[in-house]
Amino acid sequence: MRFMDPVKRQYEAYPYPARDPAEEATRLIEGSPSHPVEIDHFIFSGKRDWTQPMRVLVAGGGTGDALIMLAQLLHDRGAPAEIVYLDMSTASREIAEARAAARGLKNIDFRTGDLLTAPELGPFDYIDCCGVLHHLPTPQAGFDALAEALAPEGGMGVMVYAPFGRAGVYEAQAMLHAICSDDAPEAQVDVGKRLLHELPPSNAFSRNPLVGDHKDTDAGLYDLLLHSRDAPYTAPELLKAFETAGLRLAGFLEPARYEPQTYLRDPELLKRIGQLDVGARAGFAEKLASNMKVHIAYAVPAARAKSVAAPASPSAVPVLHRTDAKALAQSVASRGRLRFSVDGLTIERGADRKLAPLLAQIDGKTSLGALQQRSGADWMTFSAAFGKLYAPLDGFNILRFSRFYEGR
Ligand SMILES: C[S@@+](CC[C@H](N)C(=O)[O-])C[C@H]1O[C@@H](n2cnc3c(N)ncnc32)[C@H](O)[C@@H]1O
Repeated sequence: MRFMDPVKRQYEAYPYPARDPAEEATRLIEGSPSHPVEIDHFIFSGKRDWTQPMRVLVAGGGTGDALIMLAQLLHDRGAPAEIVYLDMSTASREIAEARAAARGLKNIDFRTGDLLTAPELGPFDYIDCCGVLHHLPTPQAGFDALAEALAPEGGMGVMVYAPFGRAGVYEAQAMLHAICSDDAPEAQVDVGKRLLHELPPSNAFSRNPLVGDHKDTDAGLYDLLLHSRDAPYTAPELLKAFETAGLRLAGFLEPARYEPQTYLRDPELLKRIGQLDVGARAGFAEKLASNMKVHIAYAVPAARAKSVAAPASPSAVPVLHRTDAKALAQSVASRGRLRFSVDGLTIERGADRKLAPLLAQIDGKTSLGALQQRSGADWMTFSAAFGKLYAPLDGFNILRFSRFYEGR
């Protein structure tokens, strides 16, 4: 039999995540990275003109989650876009193609191949690469190739595995590797199920409530526990990979999770931690919280000017991202608090009850300037009040700036 790269062999046998194209009739899966609102906020300062053409690469697009989300939302917006799907697994591509066909989406160019060839297909205004780079034989070559494929004013959204929230995963992978790595994928899944069935309660994987993919599908079990190449990144390692590729961090998806002061109050500790740089603080925070299974981050070419939106201008349009403004406003009005739940941890922040009516008016279409005028306050007073809401909601990816819904 001809040699097949074990990662390709895996994704031919078990396209991941498992998806049924028939379900496109009933729901659209939205996620991160690569929602247009996030792309706008992190890469285009919240000011992208969505009537202008956009070239997008979905690198290692798999069964199509980010691809279908982007293609459908851009289509619905009437945004002119060419989306290139690239994956080395033909079985995954067939599923992604069937999902696109089920929706009648025509804005996708499907390609089978290695993402190291991305520069030949570029330049791209945006690149999605979710859950892929940590599986490459040389992940840095993947970062480098994607960076090279970017337009100078473009950016990318990346998800890589993170070690500390995946406690027990790598020990389980090592055990299974020792006893079944030469077997066919289906036989490996059988061995994996047998081991899971008998894991002692003291085992680190048994005690990790954050990982559950193995319970849903065989593809999930294979991806989590039987992967032949799976090298997670700490936050500082991810920043280093960006830097080596000529990129810089635009922002972590949920920046508050990467700041130790989100979890700590002791002034002596905070004083010492305050002397660390951004990467070292992020590395401290992920060890402290121990609940990050992945890192989701946006990056831009290092030479680019600041790309992340800020609540600085009256023309900025705030969006409550995947959040019901009225429900959020009601909870602030009644409790005077904001509550964020992230991977087994609940974090609360105080919120001024008087700001609840302002929250309720955020509809993703109305600019800060229009909201200020409605409030009757001058710009300085308004932006000080808005800033108090913005800090915690930005920290957990809830308040973003984007023109994506403007005029719709
Ligand atoms: C874990 S899946 C993620 C799929 C998709 N990005 C998502 O988030 O749902 C990883 C995908 O990366 C693809 N892949 C891995 N290495 C690749 C490479 N060097 N070039 C292109 N695709 C690759 C695999 O075939 C697989 O479909």
